[in-house]
Amino acid sequence: MTILPHPDPALAVFVRSLPKAELHLHIEGTLEPELIFELARRNGIELPYPSVDALRAAYQFDSLQSFLDLYYAGAGVLIQESDFYDMTMAYLRRARHDGVVHAEIMFDPQTHTARGVSMETVFAGIARALREARAELGISGYLLLSFLRHLSEADAFSTLEQALPLREQYADLWIGIGLDSSEKGNPPEKFTRVFAHCRGLGFRLVAHAGEEGPAAYVRDALDLLQVERIDHGVRSEEDPELMRRLATDQIPLTVCPLSNLKLCVFPTMQAHNLVRLLRQGLLVTINSDDPAYFGGYVADNYLACASALGLSTADLITLAGNSIRASFLPPDQKAHWLARLPM
Ligand code: ADE
Ligand code: ZN
Repeated sequence: MTILPHPDPALAVFVRSLPKAELHLHIEGTLEPELIFELARRNGIELPYPSVDALRAAYQFDSLQSFLDLYYAGAGVLIQESDFYDMTMAYLRRARHDGVVHAEIMFDPQTHTARGVSMETVFAGIARALREARAELGISGYLLLSFLRHLSEADAFSTLEQALPLREQYADLWIGIGLDSSEKGNPPEKFTRVFAHCRGLGFRLVAHAGEEGPAAYVRDALDLLQVERIDHGVRSEEDPELMRRLATDQIPLTVCPLSNLKLCVFPTMQAHNLVRLLRQGLLVTINSDDPAYFGGYVADNYLACASALGLSTADLITLAGNSIRASFLPPDQKAHWLARLPM
């Protein structure tokens, strides 16, 4: 595990010491180039890059889609249960180093089942790591099965149908449903029926909205999909009425600053609207999205915001507290972690 030194080591230690939840994390986005090469070798897959450095050098994106093309290709090395286990365990160890005490992890089964990997294999590897990490690292985790929005709603329904027989076996982990992939042109309304069905089954609901797509997608994710939390949501700022609603109803936004920078949602970190959202009373959280691709894990995201946006110590504590408050943990566990934050 390589951890880059931060220019303000005392601040880095402080940020890592704060108990925090990571709520917006795609497990396939934690595949570091080194692990991609190792899994490719293990599975006899030829990669179109001569070296780890050459692959990492390709991580230059100008949009969400330019990233997704590489991200889905990278996930192609995941074949066996142990591949999913190794990927998840590597993330959990790294997250623990950053003070993550609870992670709500998204995974994209359609990316794997479309390649002939079974739903059982995907669940089994990820779940084995999460259960081991709970016992050995003291970090808890939940799973959010995410539908790919560039595919059809019928495909989402059939994915759900393949996963539901596993629900009881993974009841301690699989608590919710998400929606990710290419946002533009794939509005929330495309998934109204499948989300209503998932809600009826008792799943917690989240969706990506307002990353590249307009503020109207955030509103529709709330009204049509009835999600409890918005992944990203930074473009909500374009609609003052929506901003008032997000503040009044304390609907959490899982913001991912380094992701937004890498995918050109904002031109610089100084231009990021995280502080404006926070000052308007929104329940903002900081997360890493796809840390292997975006140059930083969750503490790096807190630190990048601290330097570029002038976050105070009190702001950093608020943000860590928000991550616990916005999680799907039961109230007693939320209270346990909130009591461990500095006053
Ligand atoms: N899948 C992985 N990362 C994503 C992101 N930032 N937006 C949409 N889909 C994703
Ligand atoms: Zn995301």
